[in-house]
Amino acid sequence: MTIRTDLPSRQQLRNMLRERRRALSAAAQQQAAEAVCQQLLSTLTKQTRLIAGYLANDGEVILNPTLSACQQRGVAVSLPVLHPFSGKHLLFQHYTPQTPMTHNRFGISEPELNSTQIHLLNHHDMLLMPLVGFDANGNRLGMGGGFYDRTLAHLHHLSKRPLLVGLAHDCQQVDALPVEAWDIPLDCIVTPTQIINL
Ligand SMILES: Nc1ncnc2c1ncn2[C@@H]1O[C@H](COP(=O)(O)OP(=O)(O)O)[C@@H](O)[C@H]1O
Ligand SMILES: [Mg+2]
Repeated sequence: MTIRTDLPSRQQLRNMLRERRRALSAAAQQQAAEAVCQQLLSTLTKQTRLIAGYLANDGEVILNPTLSACQQRGVAVSLPVLHPFSGKHLLFQHYTPQTPMTHNRFGISEPELNSTQIHLLNHHDMLLMPLVGFDANGNRLGMGGGFYDRTLAHLHHLSKRPLLVGLAHDCQQVDALPVEAWDIPLDCIVTPTQIINL
């Protein structure tokens, strides 16, 4: 067997793509946030009641305008919270501007855990996930922790499942991502200029 050394590894791709998104100016980030907000609002229907979002970190597409716009339209919003004991899994907790927040072990802002405010995965209509990288086939490269892959691993057993939507800047796109068996593919990718339905 020959080992190809000309293709970048997943970790090399992560480093390159994270650098790219961190290099975007504050103005470019603001423009991207507004464009993605418009794109996402156009995909909401009367049936959309609950979506999971995230708070941007490390140059990810800023989602605050989208989350506010959803709440104004009566769509409930949840945010990911690190599972307190089930290693490297996420919970999704109800979020409003009044929700008490804390910082998790990665320094990312998340709601203070409140078990009465947790929304089950299958109660969501849409899950908005930040991408480090993506390709036109709906493959997703994350930060490398596998949190979403673990959390979504049993999704196909659920009778109702949320639409899995990846959010990224256009500069996060690559021709083809190396995929692993555990990677959960996306249903849709939204960038400031594209909506890719898979
Ligand atoms: N369903 C799963 N069960 C157990 N481990 C998993 C699962 N999904 C991913 N992982 C582990 O998480 C790690 C990171 O996954 P990876 O897909 O590379 O990260 P990311 O999705 O954040 O880019 C991998 O080493 C993988 O073994
Ligand atoms: Mg993965």
